[in-house]
Amino acid sequence: MQIKIASPEFNRSDRTFLYRKIENILSSKLSMGKNVEEFEKKFSKYIGTKFAVAMNSCTSTLECVLSFYSKRGKEVILPSQTFIANGSAVINSGLKPVFSEISSKHFCLDINDVKKKISKKTAAVIIVHMSGYLSYDIFKLREICKKKKIVLIEDCAHAVGSQIKDKKAGTFGDAGCFSFYPTKILTTGEGGMLTTNNKKLAEFARSYQNRGRDIKKNYEVYNFLGRNVRMTEISAVLGIIQLKKIKIFLKNRRQVANTYKKLLKSNKFLNIILPKDIKQTSCWKIPIVINKKFNRDVIIKKLLSKGIETDKAYYPPLHLQPAVKNLYNFKKGLIPKTEDLLSRHICLPSHQSMSVQEAKYVCKLINKLIK
Ligand SMILES: Cc1ncc(COP(=O)(O)O)c(C=O)c1O
Repeated sequence: MQIKIASPEFNRSDRTFLYRKIENILSSKLSMGKNVEEFEKKFSKYIGTKFAVAMNSCTSTLECVLSFYSKRGKEVILPSQTFIANGSAVINSGLKPVFSEISSKHFCLDINDVKKKISKKTAAVIIVHMSGYLSYDIFKLREICKKKKIVLIEDCAHAVGSQIKDKKAGTFGDAGCFSFYPTKILTTGEGGMLTTNNKKLAEFARSYQNRGRDIKKNYEVYNFLGRNVRMTEISAVLGIIQLKKIKIFLKNRRQVANTYKKLLKSNKFLNIILPKDIKQTSCWKIPIVINKKFNRDVIIKKLLSKGIETDKAYYPPLHLQPAVKNLYNFKKGLIPKTEDLLSRHICLPSHQSMSVQEAKYVCKLINKLIK
């Protein structure tokens, strides 16, 4: 058996639709056309925000939101359990990263530690819905941020379709930032989406992605220095195709996750990071935290030898990545709980094309290796 950690899916009929669309695109507009507009409309409707602005990556949406809300020199609280993009977006925007612990229950920000890290300099908090896990703590975090007038940014790179009751990730904070890289829930090759209910932010984003151009004028005036971070028409068509299938993608992923939950929950040497209500997560990947007595790298190697790809999302933690560590002279021990959890976690594969049978095979091996 060969089980990949991620596997984007475009079936025969998706491909036929795509080729027909490309024919049209090639003889009209390659960028800034009707398909991007359609994808944005459909995505904002699906997520439940008034506005959605498509960009070339999630990193660009993060940079855009940070430059709209934050003055240089301020601080941004974020987890260290995240991708380098969060660090680079904060630092490249002239802001200082302040790392907070994560919770061992959901792998997202530990609210009590966030409270301790808030200072007069805090401009924003970035919550990463890790592996798609939308925790109930988001309500508390939103309250804290509101009270202290701190901007709340949701990194939804993993979390398309995660929801609490009918409210989806990307609608809780001042802005949601999504990624459509090929390893994500939906893919456009490269791509990202900013979701918000703030009209001013949406207008700023539109201008920002057009190098700071005043989009209300029909001639070229640039009011500030923005970027060129637009989505192409071909990427948008991929997004439209993928979004049509989101329900089935999530259903399949959640079936896989439920299988892991059922077959691993009695293993006392590991904890599986999944919510009670499976709809709270998009099941991007399924993290487990294993007991100290096992060697994680040996287990990963053995799984790979049986055809199972796994991942360490994320290791090392962001404050110990050389690019960040060397800038601020961060040392091991800065956030010990996160460091410990991330030294013992393994992300199990989950994607829309994976079968329950394959998940059972993974569990059988895990239970054999970790006992
Ligand atoms: C949590 C998180 N945030 C942001 C990003 C950046 O996404 P992109 O590659 O679309 O810029 C990623 C990508 O893997 C991610 O995992």
